[in-house]
Amino acid sequence: MRGVTPSSDPGIAHLLDAARADGRRRVLGIVGGPGAGKSTLAASLAGPGVAVVGMDGWHLANSVLDRLGRRERKGAPDTFDAPGYLAFLERVRSRAATVWAPEFRREIEEPIAGALEVPPDALVVVTEGNYLLLEEPPWDGVRALLDEVWFLEPDEEVRRARLVARHERHGRSHAEAVARADGSDAANARMIAATAQRADRVLRGT
Ligand SMILES: Nc1ncnc2c1ncn2[C@@H]1O[C@H](COP(=O)(O)OP(=O)(O)OP(=O)(O)O)[C@@H](O)[C@H]1O
Ligand SMILES: [Mg+2]
Repeated sequence: MRGVTPSSDPGIAHLLDAARADGRRRVLGIVGGPGAGKSTLAASLAGPGVAVVGMDGWHLANSVLDRLGRRERKGAPDTFDAPGYLAFLERVRSRAATVWAPEFRREIEEPIAGALEVPPDALVVVTEGNYLLLEEPPWDGVRALLDEVWFLEPDEEVRRARLVARHERHGRSHAEAVARADGSDAANARMIAATAQRADRVLRGT
């Protein structure tokens, strides 16, 4: 870990400046447990010259998870097309052509192909997700494709409360939301927390 940053995020002006200086696109990764605020923070960084593409877009389809018997574990590392995500990160290092990416739609719990555009003039790509710093293959290949990684670490109670509220907003009963947050989400959160030391910065209390 190279630095611990309190509450506020450090912004991406330095990445935009570096990319403008040498023309090379920079890729920022934002990691954290379920409900840590990754998607919210990433969306807040979007703007001119910045494209946001989440790892969530590489969720396997529900039909595939059913066939593999993994539907109950949706969100676990082996319920994503990790090599596909790695291939995207490789491609997006070049600004030669537009790269289209899939987007996860919570209302249908499925990704939609070709939904996100990374145009050549995007100087910074912000990507976010749970497993960017996992040390098991094939996820262990992600870190080398990211220029900088932030780990989001809000208070555990805050994270859990936000997660339960979000599950309820997406149609789950309170009991279902709590069961999900304290069940598979909590198991994933523990695995993700163990990867924080591989981040460049840890953002606490956000
Ligand atoms: N700084 C914040 N202040 C208040 N609420 C927040 C903040 N950041 C995120 N939230 C809320 O917390 C919930 C979880 O945030 P978000 O969806 O961004 O988390 P996430 O890390 O992307 O979760 P997941 O891993 O499940 O995709 C959302 O309902 C969001 O609106
Ligand atoms: Mg998210």
